[in-house]
Amino acid sequence: MRLSDGLSLTLLYGLILCTLPAGASEEPRHPPSRIAVIGAGIGGTSAAYFLRQKFGKNVPIDMFEKGAVGGRLATVEMKGDEYEAGGSVIHPLNLHMKTFVKELGLSSRPQSGNLVGIYNGEEFVFRESDWFLINIIKLLWYYGLNFLRMYMWVEDVLEKFMRIYRYQTFDYCFSSTETLLHALGGNDFTEKLNMTIDETMQKAGFSQMFIDEIVAPAMRANYGQGVRVNGFVGAVSLAGTDSGLWAVEGGNKLVCSGLLYASKAQLIQGTVTFVQEKTRPSRTGGTVKLFEVSYETATGPRLDLYDILIIATPLNKGISNITFLGFSPPIETFSKSYHQTVATFVHGRINASFFGCSEPCHFELSEIITTDNPKLFISSVGAVSPVKAAAKPSATKPAGLKVWKVFSPEPLREDQLRLLFESYDTVSVKTWLAYPSYNPPEKLPPVILHDRIYYINGIEWAASAMEMSAISAKNVALLSYHHWYGKDGHIDQEDLTERLKSEL
Ligand SMILES: Cc1cc2nc3c(=O)[nH]c(=O)nc-3n(C[C@H](O)[C@H](O)[C@H](O)COP(=O)(O)OP(=O)(O)OC[C@H]3O[C@@H](n4cnc5c(N)ncnc54)[C@H](O)[C@@H]3O)c2cc1C
Ligand SMILES: *[C@@H]1O[C@H](CO)[C@@H](O)[C@H](O)[C@H]1NC(C)=O
Ligand SMILES: *[C@@H]1O[C@H](CO)[C@@H](O)[C@H](O)[C@H]1NC(C)=O
Ligand SMILES: *[C@@H]1O[C@H](CO)[C@@H](O)[C@H](O)[C@H]1NC(C)=O
Repeated sequence: MRLSDGLSLTLLYGLILCTLPAGASEEPRHPPSRIAVIGAGIGGTSAAYFLRQKFGKNVPIDMFEKGAVGGRLATVEMKGDEYEAGGSVIHPLNLHMKTFVKELGLSSRPQSGNLVGIYNGEEFVFRESDWFLINIIKLLWYYGLNFLRMYMWVEDVLEKFMRIYRYQTFDYCFSSTETLLHALGGNDFTEKLNMTIDETMQKAGFSQMFIDEIVAPAMRANYGQGVRVNGFVGAVSLAGTDSGLWAVEGGNKLVCSGLLYASKAQLIQGTVTFVQEKTRPSRTGGTVKLFEVSYETATGPRLDLYDILIIATPLNKGISNITFLGFSPPIETFSKSYHQTVATFVHGRINASFFGCSEPCHFELSEIITTDNPKLFISSVGAVSPVKAAAKPSATKPAGLKVWKVFSPEPLREDQLRLLFESYDTVSVKTWLAYPSYNPPEKLPPVILHDRIYYINGIEWAASAMEMSAISAKNVALLSYHHWYGKDGHIDQEDLTERLKSEL
């Protein structure tokens, strides 16, 4: 029934388009002559992949990247092994990431189940046990039914969020991140952008002790910030406590290089500096507006012209440094800032007594997250495994020596490292402008920066995660496609859930 409706609509569209006298419509109906994507992180490379699916095999797509393909998905090398330094874990229901890995012939690597301890600066407020039953009893004892309710609460958000895959499968897209979120979860979702996770959970009836001792450490471990983050990113962060988390065998960045290859986009190694609108003669005799992209390469400055521009890097201060010249209204750098997170990798032996566990410590320390105590100089520390499963068991490694990943807001000083570790031999540091500094109420940046210029990274202000970038990338690919071919029927539609119920 629905299917045939769709079919006749498409036919109707075709008829209208064909019967329009030439030149009556200003919208170009030929494919774009060139598309540019700026930034080869997961957002940009998945955009290239989806653009290729929509626009077909002949449209040239250029991908600009000033650094390494992968962006915030990167590894560090330590003692001959590589470890995830940026985005590391993926939720089992992140369907775009799952599909990429499958289509690209990559494989997944389950996250090892580290036992978690929650440290408040003086002692552990909670320690996970090897025994499932003991954990349940402890949690019930300390937090009553808060845990169970949290899982139900997160599941409810997740279930609504999952609607996006269905919408996108049927080519529906949204002209702003707010309308996208609203289409998934109504005011319930958009309101979460205006409240902190603290307020959101208080309102939902969670105890303050639970929020301080369980929720805050989860926020700090995932986003380096406490319970002042908005309720939406808070929910995403709590979903990160689910089981079944995974990563990509060989490194998450392999998804980016894989998508780039599959999209057949041309990688241009260079730093984009300026974007300017230019008027040029069109093939039909009129004029056409194109975007001139200026960029610096190893061999000097160059420029190229494009019909469509996809910005896949944050346009916040100190990150991309792209200047848009002569646009009206102007396209400006966003003033809000990104949060600094330092990832320090240490090969050594952790100092259990620093965490108030005197020797002999009967707790196998492997993952320590922390409450929002300003005296703490770290957000979390955990033992990590290499991105590649070891070819042979590392029986040769001395017991107790592990590679630890420490997250902190500031680089660790040597005296701090000496406190944290009983002994260590190798240290490697990666400083990130990692994700937004969340501070609700959050007004999200636009998706459409200008006619035919689209911005993927605004979605990070709702929540920054690999899957969020991929969702935003697909949204932008669909939006640019529908705009180009004048198909408004797939943009900002309400009641999609009802409408799509009867679709196959
Ligand atoms: C420490 C850390 C931990 C994280 N943990 C997780 C996690 O566990 N799970 C999860 O899902 N997410 C996690 N994230 C978030 C996740 O990594 C990001 O949301 C995601 O990788 C963003 O991808 P992106 O493509 O949108 O941006 P980016 O990866 O930042 O890509 C932008 C690219 O654009 C390039 N670029 C910038 N300016 C220019 C220019 N002028 N010219 C040319 N190129 C330019 C940059 O070099 C970069 O490669 C984490 C992030 C960090 C930093
Ligand atoms: C959230 O706050 C913004 C202002 O920051 C406001 O425009 C918007 O209507 C609010 N949204 C909701 C759902 O309350
Ligand atoms: C930003 O770009 C301008 C113009 O190209 C350049 O002069 C400046 O040094 C750049 N700044 C940074 C932080 O990259
Ligand atoms: C370990 O931590 C304790 C307590 O903070 C501290 O006194 C000690 O100097 C640290 N270092 C070593 C090597 O034990």
